[in-house]
Amino acid sequence: MKIRKAVFPVAGLGTRFLPATKASPKEMLPLVDKPLIQYVIEEAIEAGIKEVVMITGRGKNAIEDHFDISFELEHVLKGKNQNSLLEEIQRISNLVDFCYIRQKEPLGLGHAILRAKEIIGDEPFAVLLGDDIIYSDIPAIKQLIDIYEKYQSSVIAVEEVEKKYIFNYGVIEHKKVADSVYQISNLVEKPLPDKAPSNLAIIGRYILTPEIFDILEKTKPGRGGEIQLTDGLNDMLKHQVIYGYKFEGKRYDAGNKLGFLKATVEFALRRPDLGEEFRNYLKGLELT
Ligand code: UTP
Repeated sequence: MKIRKAVFPVAGLGTRFLPATKASPKEMLPLVDKPLIQYVIEEAIEAGIKEVVMITGRGKNAIEDHFDISFELEHVLKGKNQNSLLEEIQRISNLVDFCYIRQKEPLGLGHAILRAKEIIGDEPFAVLLGDDIIYSDIPAIKQLIDIYEKYQSSVIAVEEVEKKYIFNYGVIEHKKVADSVYQISNLVEKPLPDKAPSNLAIIGRYILTPEIFDILEKTKPGRGGEIQLTDGLNDMLKHQVIYGYKFEGKRYDAGNKLGFLKATVEFALRRPDLGEEFRNYLKGLELT
């Protein structure tokens, strides 16, 4: 079955970015001039996704507004003949069909995904987390869709992570089955470096079969009192094969400050309109 729908859980509190995220969503922080969430939505659209299901929460209205029509702004831009900006603003609101579901309390990523059960129905779907921004030739989620189409099983994006940072991630125990493809036997959430089953960490891109919903309904709150997707996936492993796929591309952890800064610098350096001047500025930088 084709992957047509994608779920974007954006209901987290973004505590790592306080105070910036006290009253505005982390997903609206801009990389140069485009909010994080727009990069991830565009990745999904490029991969052929037709329906976007956003799981939102309190204080996230700016995300809805961003993808909506803004009559006032369009009127002003038209009046000033700022046509390229006008086109860009209109393009954003015409990107794709959006549907918003509220997660009333941030009870975990597994709980957030479960909110999408009715709207997804009985078909496989993609999940993309806005914290992970991936720069690649082929959209990362498209790479996962291709693996799903080949193996007809759930697929999770993984990446090699240095041992000293592994405690920040979910980590897979696996058997390699093909180039960059791993059959998963266990998932361990945030292990100590010497307890990690491998150096392959889970990144925020997934293709999931709809059986995950029944499993998440039965998943008990785990670490932090939250319903963890990792716990649900471990349950799913008892009935179904799940693969890890080492995608091609550069990933930025934009959910933490250092990762966000690195992404900002590198995306700015890649921009034809800014790159050269910004590079010269960085080269000559002397802090007083
Ligand atoms: P994180 O825990 O990494 O992000 O959740 P967070 O909660 O937003 O940020 P910190 O850790 O407090 O700084 C991973 C993803 O799952 C979503 C988040 O929005 C993020 O995209 N999420 C998490 C939900 O939608 N609901 C939840 O209850 C928890």
